[in-house]
Amino acid sequence: MREPMKRLQNRRIALGITGSIAAYKSVELMRLLQREGADVRVLMTPSAVEFVGTLTLETLSGHPVDADVLSLGANGRIGHIGAANDVEAIVVAPATAHWLGAMAGGLAGDPVTAACLATAVPVVVAPAMDGGMYAHPATQANVARLREFGYRIVEPESGVLASGMVGRGRLAALERIVDATVGALSAEPAPSRNDLAGRHVVVTAGGTAEPIDPVRFVGNRSTGKMGIAIAEAALDRGAAVTLVLGHVSVEAPARARVIRAETAAEMGAALRALTPATGPLFDALFMAAAVADFRPRSPSATKIARSAGLTLELDPTPDLLADTAERVGANVRVPGIRRPILVGFAAEIGSFDRVREKLRAKGVDVLVANDVAEPGSGFGTDTNRVTIYAIDAPPEELPVLSKREVAELLLDRVLVRLAAASTPADGQMATTEAVERPEIGR
Ligand code: CTP
Repeated sequence: MREPMKRLQNRRIALGITGSIAAYKSVELMRLLQREGADVRVLMTPSAVEFVGTLTLETLSGHPVDADVLSLGANGRIGHIGAANDVEAIVVAPATAHWLGAMAGGLAGDPVTAACLATAVPVVVAPAMDGGMYAHPATQANVARLREFGYRIVEPESGVLASGMVGRGRLAALERIVDATVGALSAEPAPSRNDLAGRHVVVTAGGTAEPIDPVRFVGNRSTGKMGIAIAEAALDRGAAVTLVLGHVSVEAPARARVIRAETAAEMGAALRALTPATGPLFDALFMAAAVADFRPRSPSATKIARSAGLTLELDPTPDLLADTAERVGANVRVPGIRRPILVGFAAEIGSFDRVREKLRAKGVDVLVANDVAEPGSGFGTDTNRVTIYAIDAPPEELPVLSKREVAELLLDRVLVRLAAASTPADGQMATTEAVERPEIGR
């Protein structure tokens, strides 16, 4: 059975709690965020502590609570500055009228305002208060100011309030606050890291097109989105990236070195050029391209007239990934030359039964399987649901994620393998200048 989808897997979130009676709901909100996979740490205003005890929040979050703007955290770091820098989003729920005013005015009298002032990550704010207080022009002006900061406001709901009166001021349903947090994080690229600096990553992307004649081809429905997401993520993390590009429907990042490869043969030539006998020129290969499995046996040099009719004879293309694995595998015996990490992709339908065997047959370190028949996981989507198979680990089943998030996770896994294989590539891997290419463009 597949696990329920976790939309905040491994995301680091600060939950800011301010002094409203709705603070008791923050405990449940924290549980919901955790259930989505988030690592939550808590910041509180002094008055919030009157409503809910720090011990409860410390126990359930597994982190110390910062309720004192003057406190120092571990290693002498200023608590709220540490939070501001370490998390990927701040969720303030409930946010009182007083807190909204302090935040709108840029005051930093409590750990929650201080962290929001110090941070560059997205901030989600869920106000909760009496209906009259929320409707007051002062509060509304403060909310408008927070929107100008780019904060996401989760509007309070109408209903019976703590006073017994009915009005608009009740903390939004917790699921709405969780959804807003997921939305804020998916709109925001992961914070930049430079952990791939000095590494050379090769990514193949898009489909190959095998000519029938000068105008027609045998191809597939790949758009190149997954490969390009990997290239972009690797560039953002400091890697030098060579993109071996088939037919794509999205733009390639300008910072990548691009080798065009129309056909399986051209893609094969590009990969051979990157794996000369002297050793591979890269640290990791992501073979995200959809290489056409078949190509016309005898492409016509001239356009075939429709009236002539057409019966195609197709030959299987060589397995480029398996060939590359064999070439770099052979290099493992050459002193001083490391074997790069090879990542393949397996587009399956219905079941992953064949994936382990494919992993072994292709001789790669990692094979990333997805079910292309599943909604949100097929060609051309912006999301993907993948299971990561590795030679030395049980399958890792991921929820539906954006292709960028999948890319980041794959890079994380490769980085661990690279670190295990020691230092960055020496000169011969770090440069691609000497590589002969069929065509280089941007
Ligand atoms: N691949 C390749 N050369 C080919 C076909 C596929 O290098 N001629 C690579 C793909 O880029 C992908 C991996 O092999 O990384 C798996 O592709 P997939 O189509 O799932 O596997 P196939 O080996 O083609 O097996 P099948 O078509 O039987 O599923």
